[in-house]
Amino acid sequence: MTDPILVAIAWPYANSEIHVGNVTGSHLPGDIFARYQRLRRRDVVMVSGSDSHGTPITISADASNATPMEVYQRYHQTFLDLFMSLGISYDLFTSTHTANHFNVSQKIFLALLDNGYLYKESQLQWYSTAQSRFLPDRYVEGTCYICGFTNARSDQCDRCGNLLEPAKLIDPRSRIDGSTPELRETEHYYLDLGKLQPEITAFLKDKADYWRQNVLRQSLGQIETEGLRGRPITRDLDWGIPVPLEAEKGKCLYVWFEAVIGYLSATIEWASITDQPEAWHKWWHDQASKVVYFIGKDNIPFHAIIWPGQLIGLGTRFDELMDSSIKAPLVLPYDVPANEFMNLESQKISGSRNWAVWAGDFLTRYDADPLRYYLTVNMPETRDTDWDWEDFYHRNNDELVATWGNLANRVLSFTSKHWDGLVPDPGELTDLDKDLIATVEQGFETVASEIEAVHLRAALAEGMRLAGEVNKYLDTTAPWIAIKSDRAAAARAVYTALRAIDSIKILLSPFLPFTSQRLHGFMGYKTSLFGSQFITQEQDNLGIHAVLRYNPEQAAGRWEPSQLSPGTRLEKPEPLFRKLDPVIIEEERARLGKPKP
Ligand code: MF3
Ligand code: ZN
Repeated sequence: MTDPILVAIAWPYANSEIHVGNVTGSHLPGDIFARYQRLRRRDVVMVSGSDSHGTPITISADASNATPMEVYQRYHQTFLDLFMSLGISYDLFTSTHTANHFNVSQKIFLALLDNGYLYKESQLQWYSTAQSRFLPDRYVEGTCYICGFTNARSDQCDRCGNLLEPAKLIDPRSRIDGSTPELRETEHYYLDLGKLQPEITAFLKDKADYWRQNVLRQSLGQIETEGLRGRPITRDLDWGIPVPLEAEKGKCLYVWFEAVIGYLSATIEWASITDQPEAWHKWWHDQASKVVYFIGKDNIPFHAIIWPGQLIGLGTRFDELMDSSIKAPLVLPYDVPANEFMNLESQKISGSRNWAVWAGDFLTRYDADPLRYYLTVNMPETRDTDWDWEDFYHRNNDELVATWGNLANRVLSFTSKHWDGLVPDPGELTDLDKDLIATVEQGFETVASEIEAVHLRAALAEGMRLAGEVNKYLDTTAPWIAIKSDRAAAARAVYTALRAIDSIKILLSPFLPFTSQRLHGFMGYKTSLFGSQFITQEQDNLGIHAVLRYNPEQAAGRWEPSQLSPGTRLEKPEPLFRKLDPVIIEEERARLGKPKP
């Protein structure tokens, strides 16, 4: 399979830092998948960016007395830094606040309009006479007309969970100044999902044999029970992308309408930044291309229903408006392996209560790979999972350190002590040795098929099982004892174990890129398994935006079994992981829910 693969990861709102639930929900699974595909030498591009518009940003701005631009830039920078340190290897992590994204989004709007998939309708919207402006739904609170909760948001009640019709809210008040808004008519453009329903349904049914059940069931369920209705895609808001029509001054594209377009615009930006402006066609116009969306379950309707609908509605009109060299339909999602949620110590993660493990803060005390490890063994692939500090402690010490880190360290140190740091010559291998090598080499099939199916927990478990097999092999062959009486037997066992470790290093490298790279160095290689990440500043007519990029040029890693030759010089090894002290369990628990320092 050499089909192009686009790893498309949900765009985080630039109004908050990133916590472990966000990492395990989308960024990390996407990164593991992309790194694996790179090792297989497939044409993979991985994109995302800051979701920088809409009321999530303006509400944070109001609350912190900053402009939306300041809020977006501040969090955007923390994302870039975090993804560097965590090794989330975006080919491009950009933002929705770029001239390119504005242009692409506006052209998508116009293409849908030209093709008859947008219509205009007036609706009643809360209007603040005090501020002379329409208030977005999230800006209005009042009493829920279903359950009587007095602090309901106009679009959703946090007590009974129902989606609300904003105009029916009882005793409405503005979240900005507490004043009472009034209902006024305003006109908006709607995406005609009703008209697109047959094609969206056919698109989903076509995925029945391989999509995750939760994603399919929820999406088809929604269509079967309620049917699809038009959704407004413009807003009375000034922070965002202007509706590209003279008559619509003061209105913006709805943040969800344009954010999903980011997958496309970021690929276009990536192509242009890397001086191959036509390259984006390969991922968006070649029908063999596979676009895989890594998202959390709250994003399912936007990626499995609405975004496919937007894409279907474009026909070739988008390409005509872009004057692109290829005029063809755009590629629809190949898979949407949405994750469930991760809780924290049995409670829902909540940024506002600081009931969260912030990824950036975590990295000030621990390393990236233990985080990646724990988040993968605990990834909410089929059900909600729980971050538990005691469990983190045990997984680190009893699995990562005991099964894998100690194995590598023990065998490498032993080699350096008894063979002067040179891989020993094994002579003729026994069946036992050959069996171990064959078992580990099977991993290049078994781990691969789990990753291809985006069963990342199972893939990592399989890699760790193989490390366990090497431990068992060493218990049996006991080279530490054999060395005293039968040096040749010890050499055979050590060679075999080193070769197995060298292979497992590759199998684990999409999950544990930093320590795999270090181990790669200890094993005498001078190359880099993956490429390198870096940050650049890009200038356009909206200003300067920083982006995270990835340079694949030096990447030498291959998804292939070790060919370790006797005589190879190893470097002096160091432990790959730190053993944690159990006091961290209570220390970390004590931090939860306290105001941030
Ligand atoms: N910002 C949204 C969220 O955090 C996700 C947007 S995904 C996108 O829920 F691609 F549509 F932008
Ligand atoms: Zn309610």
